[in-house]
Amino acid sequence: MAALRVMLDPTRLGQEAETLEANLRKRVVGQADAIRQTVDLYQTFLAGMASTGRPIGNLLFLGPTGTGKTRTVEAVAESLVGDPRAVVKIDCAEFQHSHEIAKLVGSPPGYLGHRETHPLLSQEALNLHQTETVKLSFVLFDEIEKASDALWNLLLGILDKATLTLGDNRRVDFSRAIIFMTSNLGSAEMESMLQPGMGFQAVSQAAAMAAAAGASVAKKMERAGMESARRRFTPEFMNRIDKVVVFRSLGESELRSILDLEIDAVRDRLRQATGTGSLTLKLSETARDLLLREGSDPRYGARHLKRAIERLLVHPMSNLIATGQVKEGDQVLVHVDGDGARLVFLKEFKGVAPQREDKTGSSAAA
Ligand SMILES: Nc1ncnc2c1ncn2[C@@H]1O[C@H](COP(=O)(O)OP(=O)(O)O)[C@@H](O)[C@H]1O
Ligand SMILES: [Mg+2]
Repeated sequence: MAALRVMLDPTRLGQEAETLEANLRKRVVGQADAIRQTVDLYQTFLAGMASTGRPIGNLLFLGPTGTGKTRTVEAVAESLVGDPRAVVKIDCAEFQHSHEIAKLVGSPPGYLGHRETHPLLSQEALNLHQTETVKLSFVLFDEIEKASDALWNLLLGILDKATLTLGDNRRVDFSRAIIFMTSNLGSAEMESMLQPGMGFQAVSQAAAMAAAAGASVAKKMERAGMESARRRFTPEFMNRIDKVVVFRSLGESELRSILDLEIDAVRDRLRQATGTGSLTLKLSETARDLLLREGSDPRYGARHLKRAIERLLVHPMSNLIATGQVKEGDQVLVHVDGDGARLVFLKEFKGVAPQREDKTGSSAAA
């Protein structure tokens, strides 16, 4: 008797993993590879297929600064447990000396200050943000190229055995943790593939040309990133990594999407600052263009854009609030002045004819 065979689809995600993917896409612009790899790991965990005796996953994020490596980790925590800060974050540069390592693991009993130390990497710290439904921890070792040897050894143990022994010999179990590591290693090499002074328009043009020629700049940059990781990190370390993801430089359309996300974040801050009635903030297209122009520097990715938003939008708005020129319930339009070089701030009155100031300074209804 012939067996009945039905074609299966091993690429389809379960509901929960699909929701995570959708949530990450809303928060992280571009970087589809990073999103996919993270979601795949989560799916493996959900299916109960994560290998035992190791962390759920060890992910290495490489790539230029300001492209969303740290943001992706925050977005995972935000999507799964509702708080972007629900991440145990270790800035590797801050743990160069042995007394600083004690901040991570605590000092042995008997040492001065033993009782006062609350190791950053304790089981309590790891379990702190777990919820009823999501029994997962997120651990981030940021900028690992700056880690000292002592920190490096500690990290290797966690990646391999999912355990860490604290100063007082207690054990911390990392088997329900996803370990994220970031490094901007290789970004100098990656950048050298772009000609000096190239703006992002030129970058996307170059990418389009390369794609037409059958080679992709993005692929080459990815390879450069991987190669410098292999040169810098030991095979011992690289073998413990489940996935290496190279983050791409952000192009103009990506920065434009990030601008929209960041304007929404400014609106949230306004809501918190001015109360529930809130302030409506609108930006004209030309105002957005100006922010984008001022905030574009391929060397710093979205970081430069965020600084431009603080300087040109948040600071002036703060002044307007502090001086009572705008308050809860008002509607503010941000536009550009005549030659488009500066942002101007206008208060709009809904359904009311605008007030006009005459030359003598007294105001009269128009
Ligand atoms: N791909 C991105 N999508 C959304 N926001 C981004 C992205 N890249 C950078 N940002 C914004 O810029 C900030 C700095 O990015 P970050 O993730 O810290 O960069 P890095 O790659 O150096 O870790 C983030 O907090 C976020 O607001
Ligand atoms: Mg970072």
